Amino acid sequence: MKPYVLLNSAMTVDGKIATENSSMKISGKNDLIRVHQLRKKYDGIMVGINTVIVDNPKLTIHKIPSEKTDNPVRIIIDSNARTPLNSKILDNQAETIIIASQKAPLERIRKLEEKCTIIISGTNSVDLKQALNKLYKLNIKSILLEGGSTLNFSMFKEELIDEVSICIGSKILGGSNSKTLVDGLGFNKNNCVELNLKSYTLIDKDILLKYTVQYK
Ligand SMILES: NC(=O)c1ccc[n+]([C@@H]2O[C@H](COP(=O)([O-])OP(=O)(O)OC[C@H]3O[C@@H](n4cnc5c(N)ncnc54)[C@H](OP(=O)(O)O)[C@@H]3O)[C@@H](O)[C@H]2O)c1
Repeated sequence: MKPYVLLNSAMTVDGKIATENSSMKISGKNDLIRVHQLRKKYDGIMVGINTVIVDNPKLTIHKIPSEKTDNPVRIIIDSNARTPLNSKILDNQAETIIIASQKAPLERIRKLEEKCTIIISGTNSVDLKQALNKLYKLNIKSILLEGGSTLNFSMFKEELIDEVSICIGSKILGGSNSKTLVDGLGFNKNNCVELNLKSYTLIDKDILLKYTVQYK
């Protein structure tokens, strides 16, 4: 069993979600409000370790009125337990779970354990299927996946994403090293992931696209 997973992201018209080494504001105020409303509905919110290091996000609900108890559990995919101890994601505003692998240094695990829960899954990198199963057993039945590009690819590859919502901001970023919605090794032309378009909505000057995912 696994939690239901929605991948939510903002991207530019040319498919970028960030520059090579920094985040950027892609969608407008009303899309951000939508994202915070979404966060309220999910049990967990998941990101890759590079997103934590580059963006230092809080991953709480703070753009709409909410209680501390409304915050989803923050989940970081971090094989080597590299999450910086002063990251905002380790504050006391919500629970945090770091999923590390067996190769994470023990002394890093001990330090991080003072601030959050650590789950070990996988030998060298995080075994995402096993990790999601462990999260499900902890009563995390739904997860909002918020990137970045490398984690998005692995989550598609492992067929763990059920639904996708993408807000396209009216911007072009360009740059062959800029991050796209899905990077990683990529699929080949015969095994790419098929999506079924469910809706398209105008949000100010952005467009929100919603899809379900169809695995072969
Ligand atoms: N526009 C948006 O909506 C949006 C949203 C989120 C992020 N972003 C941007 O995305 C960028 C970060 O993306 P990124 O691709 O560099 O990194 P990422 O996806 O945030 O993190 C990837 C890292 O996760 C770890 N990991 C562990 N097990 C994994 C597995 N099974 N599969 C995949 N990753 C695994 C790996 O590091 P270890 O081997 O060290 O564990 C890997 O390098 C940032 O610039 C951020 O601003 C944009």
